[in-house]
Amino acid sequence: MNREVFKPNREFSKSARIKNMCEYQDLQDFAMRDYEGFWGSYAKEKLEWMEPFHTVLDESKAPFVKWFLGGKLNVSVQCIDRHLNSRKNKAAIIFEGDRGDKQIITYLELYYNVNKFANLLKNEFGVKKGDRVVIYMPMIPEAAYAMLACARIGAIHSIVFGGFSAEALKDRIIDADAKVVITADGAFRKDKPYMLKPVVDEALKGETPVKKVLVVERNGEDVTWVAGRDYSYNELIKHQDVKCEPEVMDAEDPLFLLYTSGSTGKPKGVQHNQAGYILWAQMTMEWVFDVKENDTYWCTADVGWITGHTYIVYGPLAMGATTIMFEGVPTYPDAGRPWKMVEEYKVNQFYTAPTAIRVLHKTGEHEPAKYDLSSLKVLGTVGEPIDPPAWKWYYEAIGGSKCAIVDTYWQTETGGHIVSPLPGATPIKPACATFPLPGIMAEILDENGAKVEVGEKGLMCVTRPWPSMIRGIWGDEERFVKSYFGDVKKDGKPVYFTGDGAIYDEAGYITITGRTDDVINVSGHRMGTAEVEAAIKKHPNVAEVAVVGKPHEIKGEGIFAYIVLKSDSGVADEVEEVKAINKVIQKEIGNIALCDDVVFVPGLPKTRSGKIMRRILRSIAKGEEITQDISTLEDPSIVATIASTVQSCKL
Ligand code: WTA
Repeated sequence: MNREVFKPNREFSKSARIKNMCEYQDLQDFAMRDYEGFWGSYAKEKLEWMEPFHTVLDESKAPFVKWFLGGKLNVSVQCIDRHLNSRKNKAAIIFEGDRGDKQIITYLELYYNVNKFANLLKNEFGVKKGDRVVIYMPMIPEAAYAMLACARIGAIHSIVFGGFSAEALKDRIIDADAKVVITADGAFRKDKPYMLKPVVDEALKGETPVKKVLVVERNGEDVTWVAGRDYSYNELIKHQDVKCEPEVMDAEDPLFLLYTSGSTGKPKGVQHNQAGYILWAQMTMEWVFDVKENDTYWCTADVGWITGHTYIVYGPLAMGATTIMFEGVPTYPDAGRPWKMVEEYKVNQFYTAPTAIRVLHKTGEHEPAKYDLSSLKVLGTVGEPIDPPAWKWYYEAIGGSKCAIVDTYWQTETGGHIVSPLPGATPIKPACATFPLPGIMAEILDENGAKVEVGEKGLMCVTRPWPSMIRGIWGDEERFVKSYFGDVKKDGKPVYFTGDGAIYDEAGYITITGRTDDVINVSGHRMGTAEVEAAIKKHPNVAEVAVVGKPHEIKGEGIFAYIVLKSDSGVADEVEEVKAINKVIQKEIGNIALCDDVVFVPGLPKTRSGKIMRRILRSIAKGEEITQDISTLEDPSIVATIASTVQSCKL
């Protein structure tokens, strides 16, 4: 694995927060020597406490751990109020609409907008500390206000990505027992309006815990209003006071839930709490992006995913940065849009997903040359392994071979980055997440908890709790323990396993190789095969189904479904049947889970105990020779039948 190494830009390193690998090592040594001292000192220095904490870490009920016990704070104060002395007229959020409409919101304006929003939720809707509020919003500033307003009054927000269907939204509303939904009438995408409110109406049909719906009128669409339930944000906000006292929150009170896919069952409500989460969001912003006071930072994620939470809203605002929110898509009106915006706003840090880089590369290779990208200092990627050609293009065409690429590895559950280069310190290698961040005890282990040898694939684990780690799965303690602490033990103690595989090279660099479980990563979106299978099974003609991931040039992975139809289904037209199946997926989950390939097969490869051998199905989907031992299958001949069916579908 001898790869090219790119040293940090010397000029950049001079003023970076972490300037070289010695400084990195010193920090990591400090954490190893005195773990609680390390975290305690940062928590004291970085966070605005209403009451100080008395204990840094309580592991007595591990894996249920507590950080900064006794401490009281409010995350909205950390993100807004504390900046009002020195940054009140600084841009907090720069909003660029799909159609090029712009808004600059200063910290003082953000303070007013969030306070009014908080008063609205509290006074008009009766939202109290601990209540769950579902946010189903487009990428508009009101989404950020809604999050921070919840934080201000101590309500727990649960954002549902706007691409999820009514069914998926309903499931999440019910699981979280949410009493309020915040949405918008719609938004714009590729210069066309799209609707969100009708999806909420559909989700709220029948029995739900929701009492009130708040609608931001972004598009001015004609939407249905249910009297006594639906209210216009634009109307109610006019009457709200600009001051709302922040709720005093315990360091370990929940801050938000975010549903994500696991390898089994329905999506899990990942719970993050106050102090630990915001501390690491801020520290990683400072270390990994090294944003300076006058910089403009842009992360292209959606607030519906964890990246949008930590690196569009909470992290940048906690450190007092200027963060761009973009409503549109990177390829509209053409694949030069992001580069045009970089030039226009003089963006200094740009953070996106490999899928976007691949699309922009493929459809607009020469676009970057048309714009002045000289403001860029740090480029980031997240969400899936990036391939070396895309990395190279990003480094050269976008970064002008002078910007560090931070390949940040993390997950919804980790709250913030855990393995990533530091732009002023780490010599980088293409498509490599490099080293654990200071304070994070990340190691690649084998199933017995031993550190793997160089070049040997192992399991990406974190051996000590860290402040921004998941605190639980909403309403399911047992699933939390089983999902993350069931597989690997080190020195007899269960450690956190991410679900990803990884490899060390000869210099100790970590490369993430992808999920080792039944989770597919489609365009950086996590998709549980079990979830997609459950959706497909709702189609009345389907007897059995198995879903696997298949490498995809742009999306990283695509969804490949093997379906056994019921013998009496009488399906004559397979093309129509595929359409019907995708319709069910659209209804149950949303467009993001549509299948790239659907193949009808007479049976699935199962062991005698009935377990589907997905590994075989993955190999067939990739067109690989089957080398696995298939003698344990109930019917080994099914493998050849499936392979030839897939082959004939391709012809
Ligand atoms: C994958 C997104 C390789 C990984 C922040 C992880 C990555 C899942 C990287 C989490 C990376 C994330 N290199 N793979 N730099 N970053 N992943 O919860 O499989 O939406 O487990 O969080 O994305 O996805 P999630």
